[in-house]
Amino acid sequence: MYDSLKKSEQPTIPKHIAIIMDGNGRWAKRQGKLRTFGHKAGVGSLRETIETCATYGIEVLTVFAFSSENWHRPTKEVDVLMSLFMATLKSQAKRLHKNNIRLRVIGDRSKFSNNLQSKIKEVEFLTSENTGLLLMIAANYGGQWDMQQAAEKMLKKSVIDGVSVSEFELRDFLSTAGTPDPDLFIRTGGEKRISNFLLWQLAYSELYFTDTLWPDFNKEALDLAIMSFSTRQRRFGQTGEQVNEGV
Ligand code: FPP
Repeated sequence: MYDSLKKSEQPTIPKHIAIIMDGNGRWAKRQGKLRTFGHKAGVGSLRETIETCATYGIEVLTVFAFSSENWHRPTKEVDVLMSLFMATLKSQAKRLHKNNIRLRVIGDRSKFSNNLQSKIKEVEFLTSENTGLLLMIAANYGGQWDMQQAAEKMLKKSVIDGVSVSEFELRDFLSTAGTPDPDLFIRTGGEKRISNFLLWQLAYSELYFTDTLWPDFNKEALDLAIMSFSTRQRRFGQTGEQVNEGV
């Protein structure tokens, strides 16, 4: 990662990074431009982040592209976000595939246009056998929605299989099923909130907040977040001594 550093000084690379890409609107406003200009610039930061994560051998990158609450934004802005999602899927599908990246979109996609739903399916299918980075785009996603739908699916399965619900693990029904929980959570744009992102999955994640606005987020900014992650001692409820002794 850092060619100039000795092996012992190399940072620990997280397996799963989750990002709230905040600050596009403010970035654009600061330049006297429309908020949507910031979202367009944000796609560039997303591309750089995906490529950096793939290069570092990170297993999963989950980004919050559109929350369940974002429908309340002005219609024009919602339309631009939807068009950007569609245009990005169209223009980047081949590149993702070439880079061995697998795409998975999490969230309630039933509210998206039929065209967008088909495009998502198409790119997920195209990349489904890839073995490199898993890119999870959270779109029309909410952590509370995720837990609710997981509980419903789990209950249904217990009725169908005729076994107690306690036989199952809720995590296996979450939209992120089969992936490790995020080790590192990053939020750009200065706010210190989780904003209904991966509520269950972030239980033991290391949280990193930066004032950098998303369109300014680049490889160097990601390196800083990973360096900060490297200095944290993850205890998962144990004492520091237990962790040090490898109990
Ligand atoms: C938050 O900034 C950002 C969003 C709601 C959308 C994020 C979208 C992108 C980065 C680009 C599109 C993504 C894909 C997958 C193509 P904000 O608008 O809340 O900024 P503000 O806090 O400055 O108002």
